Amino acid sequence: MSQKLSDAKVMLREAVLGKYAVGAFNFTSIEIMRAIIDGANRAKSPVILAMSESGLRFASSNYLSKVIKAAVEEAKVPVALHLDHGKDLALVKEVIKVGFNSVMIDGSFLAYEDNIALTKKVVDYAHERGVQVEGELGVLAGIEDDVKHDTGTFTDPEQAAEFIRRTGVDSLAIAIGTSHGAFKFKGEPKLKYDVLQEISRLVPGFPIVLHGGSSAPQDAIDKINIYGGKVIGATGMPDEMVRKATQMGVAKVNADTELRLTYTGAIREYLYRNPTNFNPRDYLGYAKEQVTLQVMDKMEKALGSAGRG
Ligand code: G3H
Ligand code: 13P
Ligand code: ZN
Repeated sequence: MSQKLSDAKVMLREAVLGKYAVGAFNFTSIEIMRAIIDGANRAKSPVILAMSESGLRFASSNYLSKVIKAAVEEAKVPVALHLDHGKDLALVKEVIKVGFNSVMIDGSFLAYEDNIALTKKVVDYAHERGVQVEGELGVLAGIEDDVKHDTGTFTDPEQAAEFIRRTGVDSLAIAIGTSHGAFKFKGEPKLKYDVLQEISRLVPGFPIVLHGGSSAPQDAIDKINIYGGKVIGATGMPDEMVRKATQMGVAKVNADTELRLTYTGAIREYLYRNPTNFNPRDYLGYAKEQVTLQVMDKMEKALGSAGRG
């Protein structure tokens, strides 16, 4: 598979220079994976297919790697296959064995020196096999959150520069106010652009990664709520805020939640409107097309990666 995949390190370096970001979209089903590739093809954008450990366990990494091989062959744009939030070297070894060409080692929950030691171990292993590594420093949290998530959890720029130098990572996820999931901000969305700016100044040209990059697509949320679901008070990253970060060194943006919302909203809508239809090809086909459109919209408006593939 790997000769068909594109080198994420090259993709991200090009993105920094071009002041856009490559989207890393998580997936757990064949339809969502194909929607991500279709969206990238139609937007002519590079893309990263990302899989978390829980996603891997759900789909089986060995089985999945064979399906992904076929999907990547359909791609007309650069595609990398990435492990999201890898927690240890054993998992990194498992995914590299089945063909992933990009991994994240997330030691952000560890003490600084322990994070460096774990990340360095993964970098040594992965680089020997031509696989790029993303590390993480700082803890994701909402900027408006309570004392547990105060400014102390934002990435420290000096530490980030040292972390990059001592570990040899190819990209670094930082904490500047984003968070995972559908409830990112209590008040107005805010990011610590000053922290991002300072990191980019200390490590010019180095690819920075933004986790928690999903928007909260109103149309999808409305569909969920109209057709029997209950997702109240969702907030996400506005497109223009992501775009601003891409002007300041963010070269990879992770998005999962916005595709989950889109997929779920579309399935609920389809089944409600077509109560006699029980053919998965119809409702999953409709949901797949909605996810494709969401991926394209993200690439055009938030990432600026459309036309770069
Ligand atoms: O970063 C988190 C991603 O959204 C993956 O979530 O572990 O439920 O697959 P998951
Ligand atoms: P979202 O929850 O904003 O989609 O973030 C996903 C993510 O960061 C995966 O690593
Ligand atoms: Zn994440």
